[in-house]
Amino acid sequence: MEKILCASMLNLPIENMKEEIVELDKSGVDIFHVDIMDGTFVPNFAMSVREIDLIRKLSNRPIDCHMMVMQPRRYIKMMADHGCDIIYIHPEAELIPTETLDQIRALGKKPGIVINPALSLEMVKDILPIVDYVIIMGVNPGFAGRDFMDYLIPKFKELTRYRAEKALAFKIILDGGADERVIRTMYHDVGVEGYVLGKQLLFFQNKPYKDCVDFVRAI
Ligand code: DX5
Ligand code: ZN
Repeated sequence: MEKILCASMLNLPIENMKEEIVELDKSGVDIFHVDIMDGTFVPNFAMSVREIDLIRKLSNRPIDCHMMVMQPRRYIKMMADHGCDIIYIHPEAELIPTETLDQIRALGKKPGIVINPALSLEMVKDILPIVDYVIIMGVNPGFAGRDFMDYLIPKFKELTRYRAEKALAFKIILDGGADERVIRTMYHDVGVEGYVLGKQLLFFQNKPYKDCVDFVRAI
């Protein structure tokens, strides 16, 4: 199982954004992960289409946008037009999330859902056949740099088990708190393939991004 490594762009040092993005592109990271926050779904503001445009200009790698936004349907076309390849919504932020996921697909983009710590898998099982990606949060969303919450491990196990049982093809990505210990457990024991890499393993490491990516591939 190949790892899918996503760079958490919320952690990107902003002083030399352009150079950092170019170095990340060369590092071998698979996907740029862009956190969008509206100040209501989560108590914070974050990135926007400006950063997406810059990444799109500097790299051909896929960009995902993680919409921590109420009624994200209002902004799906905008995100698609700015070059996002994968669009994640939190299903509880919409009354009819399946229509939003269908709209993402109709725009030629890959739909994904994000499962918050307090959201039960039972709430989303019925819609798993129509998504390409599922993020399970390892922290409460809204802020970078939080520590993984171990009590969520059974949820990851349940999702990998359910995917195998139903022979579903969506990818599973862990977002929040991915450190070496967490990835070792999740990759080898649980069968999770995707990781959003933030401050623990990719940014602020005092070594080139490529070395960080190589390190995670070898965990
Ligand atoms: C949290 C965000 C994450 C996060 C990942 O609200 O969705 O993408 O920034 O980076 P770390 O693991 O460093 O917090
Ligand atoms: Zn995120």
